[in-house]
Amino acid sequence: MNIKHIAFIMDGNGRYAKKRNLPRTFGHKKGIERIKEIVLECFETYDIKTVTLYAFSTENWNRPPSEIKFLFLYLKAFFLKEINTFIEKGIKINILGFLDDERIPKDVKEVIDEATYKTKDNDKYTFNILFNYGGRQDIIQASLKLFELLSSGTIKKEEVDDNLFKTLLLTSKTSDVDLLIRTSGEERLSNCLLYQCAYSEFIFTPTYWPDFDKEELKRCLDIYNKRDRRFGAIKNDQ
Ligand code: IPE
Ligand code: IPE
Ligand code: MG
Repeated sequence: MNIKHIAFIMDGNGRYAKKRNLPRTFGHKKGIERIKEIVLECFETYDIKTVTLYAFSTENWNRPPSEIKFLFLYLKAFFLKEINTFIEKGIKINILGFLDDERIPKDVKEVIDEATYKTKDNDKYTFNILFNYGGRQDIIQASLKLFELLSSGTIKKEEVDDNLFKTLLLTSKTSDVDLLIRTSGEERLSNCLLYQCAYSEFIFTPTYWPDFDKEELKRCLDIYNKRDRRFGAIKNDQ
């Protein structure tokens, strides 16, 4: 399959819970429980080298503190529980986002740092988790780095191109997104990987993330395989 990088906007956790008359946090618990199966399926069944998951946006701070608290609690538990699986399977974990933010609790930061450190030498697969991430903020921080490089004379204006700019983004070590899947029926990016999705294929499925399973992943990949990616060019037979 011609797909190196798949990204997921996990969405619909709250509505999944609401449908069952349960608190939104129940949906987050269920949603986070889904991550392992889907990510491993991408790596092991389809040999996709990079998986990126949008876990917490810079705008998600606008939610009630209690919801954020539970979301962080479940994410932390996920890393603690699964870290050995990631180590054993050669999966490198990259937590990408604004991690110096003082609103991120210390214990969460520690677990994140540990997961990154313990998997840093893995090179079979890469699992990016976008955490306190915003696409616009990513482009701004990359632009500021570019400004520094230009002002210090490290690089010349003529050397600035797409390839160079990409190295300054938080996703610098990974390729462009080939396929982005968003669950829950919303059809928008919500500040996810704005630069990296310039030529991505998008699939929006009505399924809430806690219900997204291997079969649905297969359906999405089948759709992707039928897409004609032209990157602005035309095919010889057209
Ligand atoms: C996605 O589910 C999880 C995160 C944003 C972290 P939501 O919590 O956005 O669920 P809905 O969209 O309200 O159903
Ligand atoms: C996007 O989902 C953020 C993540 C999945 C982390 P949201 O539920 O926050 O997005 P909006 O508010 O519906 O656009
Ligand atoms: Mg949502």
